[in-house]
Amino acid sequence: MSDKRFLRAFSGPAPERPPFWFMRQAGRYLPEYRELRKQTTDFLTFCYTPDLAVEVTLQPLRRFQPDAAILFSDILVVPDALGCNVRFVEGQGPLLEPLKSEADISDLRLEQVEQHLQPVFETVRRLAGEIPDETTLIGFAGSPWTIAIYMIEGRGGTSGETARQWAYRDPQTFGRLIETLVEATIIHLRCQIENGAEVVKLFDSWSGVLSETQFQSLVIEPTRKIVRRLKDDFPHVPIIGFPRAAGVLCKHYAQETGVDGVAIDPNIPLEWARHELREMCVVQGNLDNQLLVAGGDAMEEETLRILNMLGSHRFVFNLGHGVVPQTPVENVCRVAELVRNWRPS
Ligand code: CP3
Repeated sequence: MSDKRFLRAFSGPAPERPPFWFMRQAGRYLPEYRELRKQTTDFLTFCYTPDLAVEVTLQPLRRFQPDAAILFSDILVVPDALGCNVRFVEGQGPLLEPLKSEADISDLRLEQVEQHLQPVFETVRRLAGEIPDETTLIGFAGSPWTIAIYMIEGRGGTSGETARQWAYRDPQTFGRLIETLVEATIIHLRCQIENGAEVVKLFDSWSGVLSETQFQSLVIEPTRKIVRRLKDDFPHVPIIGFPRAAGVLCKHYAQETGVDGVAIDPNIPLEWARHELREMCVVQGNLDNQLLVAGGDAMEEETLRILNMLGSHRFVFNLGHGVVPQTPVENVCRVAELVRNWRPS
């Protein structure tokens, strides 16, 4: 059994206080990140430079000593590896050349994914040797649906109308895209685990735009496949899923995909998570990232409310979505301190 606090939330006796980390704990709110980021204009090149990616992964560990480090990379390295044109434009976020036809899907190059992502795997390998002994290394990938929405709409922040219509109109062709992404995601996560990732997280950031029926076919089924295949080879590596904004469908997700943990957003009632979700899996979440910007009593009270409701066992403290660039660093420090000092009553 591991003596790492993070892994003990998943198996073994409950740790004396819950483990914590922050989604997007590395990034632009840290001055030391902004400084290093100046060295490379292109964000993907930054992600594919192990010296830089290792260093920015370590930055938040020095500041807050979270129980986990998350590999610094991006979910959109997978479409990039498949041969899509992916660009990050300052102030606009990611932009992709949209897939429009069956031929565009046939052009995706699954066979080059493993080779293309070697720098990411090297980053993981180096991190596994460099992070403190008590810290757990998290690898990650975007889920097929969330990657598909970027590939079809060409950007985030939409409700995925084009992608959802395509999936309804031509489920067979759309299914081939999802299948390709399932395979690419398995390669991506398998190589991260082989290089030292101890936990993996699947980000389904856009799962909340789907109907119940499409949530089943585009989120639950592909996730179940990924989980089953990874569990065949790595039965002891915990898998956390993040079906963002999925509401009560989180429960179906936990029941049917086989994930070990579900990350919840701030919209999920804590009482519901405690009674309906924690029966089935570890719960991770769910402080509002805007409270981390606002700070003060409201932030502290909500942090304690979450801890008092869920903190005793099978829980990982985190945000409900990523740290945003305008977040004051001292607020993150304060929340880390509150979690570190909290004990179940
Ligand atoms: O510290 C960490 O959490 C690890 C690194 C990480 C990044 N992106 C770095 C990043 C992780 C885990 C991600 C995941 C990711 N990327 C998701 C899923 C989580 C979520 O937020 O829903 C998504 C949807 C993406 C796609 C993506 N990448 C977007 C929408 C953006 C632009 C948004 C923004 O904040 O500008 C990115 C770029 C990105 N990924 C940055 C970072 C630090 C900012 C780029 C920069 O520094 O120039």
